[in-house]
Amino acid sequence: MLNSEIRENKNPGAVPETEPERQYYFIRECRNIVKRKEEELGRPLTACCVTFGCQMNARDSEKLRGILEEIGYRNTDKEEADLVLYNTCTVRENANTKVYGRLGYLHSLKDKNPHMIIGLCGCMMQEQQVVDRLRKSFRFVDLIFGTHNVYKLAELLYHVFEDQGMVVDILQKTEQVVEELPTDRKYFFKSGVNIMYGCNNFCSYCIVPYVRGREHSRDPEEILCEIRSLVRDGVREVMLLGQNVNSYGKGLPEDKSCSFARLLEQIAQIEGLDRVRFMTSHPKDLSDDLIAVMAKYPNICRHLHLPLQSGSTEILKKMNRRYTKDSYLALVGRIREAMPDISLTTDIIVGFPGETEEDFQETMDVVRRVLFDSAFTFLYSRRSGTPAADMEQVPENVMKDRFDRLLALVQKTGREQTARFEGRTMDVLVEQVNEHDTSLVTGRLDNNTVVHFPGTADLIGQIVPVHLDVCQGFYYMGTRV
Ligand code: SAH
Ligand code: SF4
Ligand code: F3S
Repeated sequence: MLNSEIRENKNPGAVPETEPERQYYFIRECRNIVKRKEEELGRPLTACCVTFGCQMNARDSEKLRGILEEIGYRNTDKEEADLVLYNTCTVRENANTKVYGRLGYLHSLKDKNPHMIIGLCGCMMQEQQVVDRLRKSFRFVDLIFGTHNVYKLAELLYHVFEDQGMVVDILQKTEQVVEELPTDRKYFFKSGVNIMYGCNNFCSYCIVPYVRGREHSRDPEEILCEIRSLVRDGVREVMLLGQNVNSYGKGLPEDKSCSFARLLEQIAQIEGLDRVRFMTSHPKDLSDDLIAVMAKYPNICRHLHLPLQSGSTEILKKMNRRYTKDSYLALVGRIREAMPDISLTTDIIVGFPGETEEDFQETMDVVRRVLFDSAFTFLYSRRSGTPAADMEQVPENVMKDRFDRLLALVQKTGREQTARFEGRTMDVLVEQVNEHDTSLVTGRLDNNTVVHFPGTADLIGQIVPVHLDVCQGFYYMGTRV
């Protein structure tokens, strides 16, 4: 279905073939079109990019907004806009359902504003049956593209402006990664940085490897350059992004060879970078070398997101996770020994095919022993095309009953863990004025816990010491000292 509906450009000789020059060409072309439309309508054009799913998608959305802004759109949070782009997720069925539900609403907006362009991109679009359904039943959608060609937004939009019908561009794999395009960061003081793309792990329940493609590590020098330039730009905290950062470096050419521990160490040494965090760490290959680097550098955040998925060795095997209950607990032991204060968070799936009450009790046991600061708990969701979809499913009522029991436990241990810093003074990176009470500002400890305290907007982007007066469940109320 490659570019199937895109006709050649009117003046092909003028279009550069290399990137990023090609995209800058289309950005200029689109800018002229947007300007003309603005003159016609006598008002600025607005664009709204909505993100579903994980940090990877959030970062892609910053790139999409950067391109839209460069084209001349004003970015807005309101969906009553001239262009609405949904960056979709498909990790669980309900992520999918949500998008279909909201498309009906977008259609009603488009009836009122015939200039409106509706675009869909992201992980859901990498599924053939989704695109087929959209082509058939959602003809009002103007633009569809996937996860491998985010950088091409300007080029694709140009074809929409040329009124070429529904423009569909889905690539089956990443052919080219173009990083040198504008981005619109949500926060001026912190930023996500992709260090790798895709995933090779094929956990048996997970659709991500099918929609994000094969694992690919970025050149370490490029990553370091990007972070140095972010720091020069005022960024104080970076979050390194990848589906499994611990396998960073596999497949790099020999002269660039680098492990995640080495990369992290070089990043931690960057002058002026106050905080570095990363997501996600697969327990199967978190090295002792990495633990040592984390313990050595105070600007590496004292937080690890270490998805457990299940506490049962039997289920972990069926999940193709490649660690056991005991090896997970031993790993946590080594991490806590090196960094006693560290906060651990996790993801857990309840009701994976074949999960028995005994298997579930193993998960409860790990939660009681590890004491996570917080845990994202999910009901298993059957994803077609994954091996687990063909295994014997757990009945829904059994799943839900287990889910409720697990949730009660993780909330209890989470509250107790979060509260362990009460009475201490710790550094908070201030992120925003509190949404409910404007006399307060809201920020985060380096372990990622949220803190609210009296303060004003000028503190945003600063790191200030705050006394943690009282823990209220999963956040603190504090006082600046
Ligand atoms: N790469 C990360 C996870 C990315 S997906 C890792 O390996 O840890 C985020 C979380 O969604 C997963 O950790 C898992 O808990 C959950 N998840 C993925 N597929 C799922 C499915 N089919 N049903 C329910 N939860 C799922
Ligand atoms: Fe999915 Fe497993 Fe890859 Fe995480 S590591 S994205 S859970 S396949
Ligand atoms: Fe969802 Fe894609 Fe992330 S499926 S969880 S947005 S990689």
